[in-house]
Amino acid sequence: MKVLIGVTGCIAAYRACELVREFQRAGHEVSVVMTEAATRFVGLETFAALTQGHAKVSLFEDEDPIPHIALAQWADAFVVAPCTANVCAKAASGIADDLLTSTLLACTCPIFIAPAMNVHMYESAATQANLDVLRARGVHVLSPDEGYLACGEVGPGKLPDPKSIAQWVCAHAEKRPQALSGKRVLVTSGPTQEPIDAVRFISNRSSGKMGAAIVSAALDAGACVTVISGPVAISYDARSEVISVMTAEEMFQAARKAFAEVDVAICVAAVADIRPESASAGKLKKGRDDEALACISLVPNPDILSWLGHHKQEGQVVVGFAAETEDVVAFAKEKLASKGADMIVANDVAAHEVFGADDDVVTLITEEGEEELGRLSKDAVANEVIAAIASMTANS
Ligand code: CTP
Repeated sequence: MKVLIGVTGCIAAYRACELVREFQRAGHEVSVVMTEAATRFVGLETFAALTQGHAKVSLFEDEDPIPHIALAQWADAFVVAPCTANVCAKAASGIADDLLTSTLLACTCPIFIAPAMNVHMYESAATQANLDVLRARGVHVLSPDEGYLACGEVGPGKLPDPKSIAQWVCAHAEKRPQALSGKRVLVTSGPTQEPIDAVRFISNRSSGKMGAAIVSAALDAGACVTVISGPVAISYDARSEVISVMTAEEMFQAARKAFAEVDVAICVAAVADIRPESASAGKLKKGRDDEALACISLVPNPDILSWLGHHKQEGQVVVGFAAETEDVVAFAKEKLASKGADMIVANDVAAHEVFGADDDVVTLITEEGEEELGRLSKDAVANEVIAAIASMTANS
């Protein structure tokens, strides 16, 4: 594989030297492109020596009159590590004012970025919004490590170990058989909101992150993906079709309609099990509407997974998630049977912080048995779930 490494102006720029060596040791060809700011931390000569001269910084002082296009055409993978907040922002808005950012815009190969910066810069709404934009466009974003940062603060912002960056890139970039090629996949995701009155609702803390990871993993495996999502702040992979809904009933109707056309349905949504029997059109007021506020009568919502599980046709695969606080495997096995699912991905929500987190510990439960996965990022969990589903569709 031809790997282009982009180095930006961050204290961790020196670790990109190790990253070059990691890819070379694994037998890949490496070229480097640096920003002007990166050369304040590590000289261009260092990367030139490591790559037998294949390191560049300028758009204009090269023998090639259009070096950014030549680099973009050459690369099989473009890895920006470390990637500063500034380069994340430029990449998200398409600014191409130097060789590195121009090459980023011209690249059609998979792009990988490893943000590294001060914890507050990383957690700022602007940087997080830029990273969401990049993820939604299919850019692979590696979460930084947590720890003691160069600025003296502690938190997420450290560049991960170069070896693990190289492994992460290779796992995604090297051509693998598309396990769900030609398959159509339906994903329900996020929470639902059940209105009480014009301003209040019943909902839950689902962020939609697990659903988004499943959507991207299914797309990467070659599937055509439709996601039916409740209200979320995140964006789904731009390659998917997104149907936005508010209530469980709306999600149910959309899922029933889409189900006839799909090979696989994956219910990740945290659907509200109950809803107010009737929602008041206006706002319920204290004093005037005390009685209505004190006694909101609730009715059950349709169980989408159960409906899909009991209406699936020969060859269709239906998968659910189970959030449990006790007897995780036993309850998940019960759900597998009662909801007619082919697999349940069971989550122990008492043992681990799941809602809004970037990683997860799950057990895959099928009729054949159970497989506990260790602590993994939500992206890695999604890849494992999709791999397990792919083997089921191959057998069905
Ligand atoms: N689910 C669904 N429709 C519902 C409730 C749940 O499709 N009305 C799906 C979820 O998307 C998930 C699975 O069912 O895939 C299990 O959800 P969970 O909340 O763990 O279980 P419940 O069925 O709500 O049961 P309980 O609350 O008793 O654990």
